[in-house]
Amino acid sequence: MDIKSPNNNVQLGDLHFKPFISTSEIQKRVAELGQQISTDFEGKCPLIVCILNGSFIFCSDLVRAIQIDCEVQFMKVSSYEGTTSTGNIKPIFNSLPKLDGREVILVEDIIDQGHTIDYLYRIFQESPVASLRIASLLLKPAAYKYTHTIDYLGFEIPNDFVVGYGLDYNQMGRNLPQLYTLQKD
Ligand code: IMP
Ligand code: MG
Repeated sequence: MDIKSPNNNVQLGDLHFKPFISTSEIQKRVAELGQQISTDFEGKCPLIVCILNGSFIFCSDLVRAIQIDCEVQFMKVSSYEGTTSTGNIKPIFNSLPKLDGREVILVEDIIDQGHTIDYLYRIFQESPVASLRIASLLLKPAAYKYTHTIDYLGFEIPNDFVVGYGLDYNQMGRNLPQLYTLQKD
């Protein structure tokens, strides 16, 4: 269980987290991204690929902010253990249709070192997609090791571990409605 203290900090297992980005700030930015995607893909039907598990909440808010037709599918990969990216990406599940001629938008919760998005980008690039774009709620520029443009980015954040709004620490904290960052002291 998350233990909420009077200063709104939360404890997940052995770690303490403090409030970082509020629900209203997130909703405002997600609405802007949805608007931008709606404009960019007007008259088309983009295939939104939700990268599980972390982006399930961001993606569900994002698609509801998209005002054009779109298709939503899911893919599950895993690369994190505890608070460290392993770089060892494992595809676990996908529900993808044929990608020929599709306008694909990969939706990530957070891009840290970028191993996950680079791996997925390369897989999709090998298919005859019409276009391939990346959406991510968060990016840690100081950790990012690749050059793929993040076409739809919510927030650039410092190189600290964050939880909430879909993001977890050892599978806990995904249900927190806002983002929290690690309390270091
Ligand atoms: P990357 O492959 O190093 O870019 O790591 C990306 C994946 O690691 C994300 O999709 C998240 O699932 C996870 N991740 C990276 N940073 C964090 C964080 O600060 N909190 C929780 N999960 C994270
Ligand atoms: Mg993820």
